[in-house]
Amino acid sequence: MKDPFQAVKVTDKVYWVGAIDWDLRDFHGYATRRGTTYNAYLVMADQPTLIDTVKAPFADEMLSRISSVCDPKSIRYIVSNHSEMDHSGALPRILDLVKPKKVFASAMGVKALKAHFHWDMPVTAVKDGEKLELGGERLAFTESRMVHWPDSMFSYLEGAGVLFSNDGFGMHLASSSRFDDETPDWYDEAAKYYANILLPFSDIVLALLDKIAKSGLSPKMIAPDHGPIWRKDATKIISLWGEWARQKPRNKAIVVFDTMWGSTDKLARAAAEGLITAGVKTMVMPLRGSHRSDIATELLDAGALLVGSPTINKQIFPTVADVLSYLKGLRRKNLVGAAFGSYGWAGESIKQVQDALTEMGVATVETVKCQYVPDAAALEAAYGMGQKVAAKLKEALR
Ligand code: FEO
Repeated sequence: MKDPFQAVKVTDKVYWVGAIDWDLRDFHGYATRRGTTYNAYLVMADQPTLIDTVKAPFADEMLSRISSVCDPKSIRYIVSNHSEMDHSGALPRILDLVKPKKVFASAMGVKALKAHFHWDMPVTAVKDGEKLELGGERLAFTESRMVHWPDSMFSYLEGAGVLFSNDGFGMHLASSSRFDDETPDWYDEAAKYYANILLPFSDIVLALLDKIAKSGLSPKMIAPDHGPIWRKDATKIISLWGEWARQKPRNKAIVVFDTMWGSTDKLARAAAEGLITAGVKTMVMPLRGSHRSDIATELLDAGALLVGSPTINKQIFPTVADVLSYLKGLRRKNLVGAAFGSYGWAGESIKQVQDALTEMGVATVETVKCQYVPDAAALEAAYGMGQKVAAKLKEALR
């Protein structure tokens, strides 16, 4: 039987030979409700070159797609732009089968691949700005260190103007379409990917965007390792990354909470009402129904974060601790906000939430807490907290 998986032609010489992971629903803590793709690319130069591989269980799918273009054993070079296992997992098996003349990675990539596979495979380190002749085609390498791993690297196919950007400008989206113009609903997944993977590295992203702009590279296409290939909106996704990286606050608040007996829920709703009546677009995200990665995504274009927790055994409620830990790691800047919550006898969680927000750099207003069930005064205080956050946000937006 003919191999069921086919390559997709990207340019005269470039083919997509990756894999579609329709099943993936969790990418290290990030809810990937629409699956993902692991993109790999074959450049059919005189020295056929494979750019990145796929997650290990998808090696056969990739080999099948390669076979629809050429004998995998004819591949001479492999470029590893990024050593994370979703792009390098299949590499040992491919190396065994293909036996390429050379494997290339950034200097940090050489170390990272060795630390993953504990092998003696000689991987050639390429420097920032170095070029590689493929015979009729040429690749130019640009380090993209910490976007989002130390080893990350972009490879640019001169002439055709294709930028292989590893995780850069990617998104988790399994689809039958390989190109952005065939995937008009890409925005939400691109924003979610930035918010959950790249946000902590935003200063480095801005420096990299600047470096690309000054380098004179003018990619006609951007071919990332996840999601669609940018052939229509390459400029737009670069511009969106700049916007997201700058993290300017917007007139939007996120109210995150969990509740035991409905008291923190009531405070959350009152606080939200205070925000709404002050003219702030507000989203209340109860943690029983909101995934941490969706909260991070909503925060991307917000300016305020309010977090509420009941106290349980002198601690923050577990789901609230989870989301605070996750958001702290993502290091969203330029937020105002508040901590609130309910308690039975001591109320430690409210101070703990406040401390966490302070550690995250959120400029907070006074906390609001209530014992057992909020009375009218407590609800008024929560409403007032919302109004104070709204006023602080308006100041920040000026
Ligand atoms: Fe898609 Fe950083 O791996």
